[in-house]
Amino acid sequence: MRTHFCGLIDEALIGKPVTLCGWADVARNLGGLCFIDLRDHEGIVQVLVEPEQAEVMKVAAHVGYEDCLRVTGVVRKRQSVNDKIRTGQVEIVATQIEVLNKAEPLPFHAHENPGEDIRLKYRYLDLRTPQMQRMMRTRIKLVQALRRYLDERGFQDIETPILTKATPEGARDFLVPARMHPGEFYALPQSPQLFKQILMMAGFDRYYQIARCFRDEALRADRQLEFTQLDMEFAWVRERDVQDTVEEMIRVVFREVMDVELATPFPRMTYAEAMRRYGSDKPDLRIDLEFTDIAELVKTCEFKVFTDWANHEDGRVVALRTPGGATLSRKQIDDYGAHAAKFGAKGLAWMKVEDAAKGREGVNSPIAKFLDDATLAAIITATGAQTGDLIFFGAATYKTASDFMGALRLKLGKDLNLIKAGWAPLWVTDFPMFEWDDEENRYVALHHPFTAPAVDDIAELRAKARTAVSRGYDMVLNGNEIGGGSIRIHNSAMQSAVFELLGIGAEEAEGKFGFLLDALKYGAPPHGGIAFGIDRIAALMAGTESIRDVIAFPKTTTAQCLMTGAPSPVPDAQLAEVHVSVRLKEAKA
Ligand code: AMO
Ligand code: AMP
Repeated sequence: MRTHFCGLIDEALIGKPVTLCGWADVARNLGGLCFIDLRDHEGIVQVLVEPEQAEVMKVAAHVGYEDCLRVTGVVRKRQSVNDKIRTGQVEIVATQIEVLNKAEPLPFHAHENPGEDIRLKYRYLDLRTPQMQRMMRTRIKLVQALRRYLDERGFQDIETPILTKATPEGARDFLVPARMHPGEFYALPQSPQLFKQILMMAGFDRYYQIARCFRDEALRADRQLEFTQLDMEFAWVRERDVQDTVEEMIRVVFREVMDVELATPFPRMTYAEAMRRYGSDKPDLRIDLEFTDIAELVKTCEFKVFTDWANHEDGRVVALRTPGGATLSRKQIDDYGAHAAKFGAKGLAWMKVEDAAKGREGVNSPIAKFLDDATLAAIITATGAQTGDLIFFGAATYKTASDFMGALRLKLGKDLNLIKAGWAPLWVTDFPMFEWDDEENRYVALHHPFTAPAVDDIAELRAKARTAVSRGYDMVLNGNEIGGGSIRIHNSAMQSAVFELLGIGAEEAEGKFGFLLDALKYGAPPHGGIAFGIDRIAALMAGTESIRDVIAFPKTTTAQCLMTGAPSPVPDAQLAEVHVSVRLKEAKA
């Protein structure tokens, strides 16, 4: 049907006949000449119809936006070069134009920047735009580069089931009714976690899969109900064996896809250090702002909020120096208070350092009156604040103060242009094994229940569960958790003990994970792995904030596909077949 791609016509083809297929991007008539920008997946080329070509001109005169055309013509040097497009040196002088399919007036024009809902409803039109084509191609290149890397190194690509049993990763399961087993359900995998571990016990040594995962959880810019992982598992390994391999993989992939050289080696930080310095387990290291703990300085001051938390066993009082922040208005400062409140802050104290040399006289702060001269000076020294800076203060439990001051740090970084250009990868290690869940009144696994504790001894783990550290690790890039993994428990008794600590009784454990507990008994090698969020890495590479831009057919934040209309009701007969009845009233109540 065609001899070349529109976007790849170049000067080497000058004088040659070509036949191209594509969409009419723009058509315009100028003084007897007709110009059509013809677009395909490779790009745009200008087609010119000269007045002498009366028959062709008749067709061209009626060409509309997004009509499908087949154009035959001769390539020639363009008179007015267009530097903005790759084919800008040449044009096609048409000898024939065939309208393959006329397009009706479009629901939107791509150049108008329509809202996301309309783009998602007509996703095929949206995806046709050069910008979306570019972002999707980045994802495709990423996956190709990952596969190439892993295939060359002996990793084996093995598929695992989609219809399966619950695989706990901390989210809600999607259930599928089992027609042949009335009243029973399959669960869609939250990840291939247990299957990949069992593959290691089954002798495959190194596994990978580009795996779809399903999690029924609240959606955000970086979360979808179904998303894609590069899932990996290794037998006979310790942390560094896994980390060093995948760190090199990520470096190679960034080089190939982005022509970017990432740091060698990636910086490493424990979870405790990340929380202490940045109030986050996925710190964005492109922002230079860092916390200063000042509990020791304010234990006996007159400001009750500070003294309360400074003397609280699980309290934290944090100062965050903001260079140049003294120029912020009261309104701006109040807005930061409102932002921090979204993350749990009960208040956000602040201090403008208008002249660092003048002590109390040089500061402007609603809490200065509660602080004596020595405390005030000590805070300025400890934070390193200079004339013109602003210091924000947060006091709360360790977790809450870290959370809202961490969120504040990110917002300040963005608003005040403190985010350095480039890429800041790091490893975060030594995560806590458990987190106490007040609502459920039990421990929950911070990673997942199959992650090994740093201690080998079961009695010791039981005794120190609250502070136990796991062998889990995350890879973080520019403030995004792009991958998470761990060394796994490979001993059945330890696995049972961890289930028990998580409040999963022996009977429940047997019912849900009996197959794993069995498999661990028959010669399970030490093993570990990691899974990367492909959507998140692709979004970072494509330079977009939303993973929806690198997923061909994503769901909205209200968990719908606007193009197909999923989810949707099904006929009663179909429900009866799978032994399901719907109780809508109760669901809505
Ligand atoms: P985890 O739950 O940390 O680990 O997931 C691994 C990576 O997957 C990405 N990710 C998501 N991306 C888009 N939408 C989501 N809803 C979503 N949830 C997670 C993140 C994350 O780092 N089985 C373990 C891995 C292991 O231990 O080997 C797991 O799934 O980038
Ligand atoms: P108040 O005396 O309650 O008006 O508080 C004085 C200042 O302390 C105000 O700027 C409050 O925003 C701030 N503040 C109150 N509670 C906290 C807290 N938990 N952490 C940080 N600052 C707080």
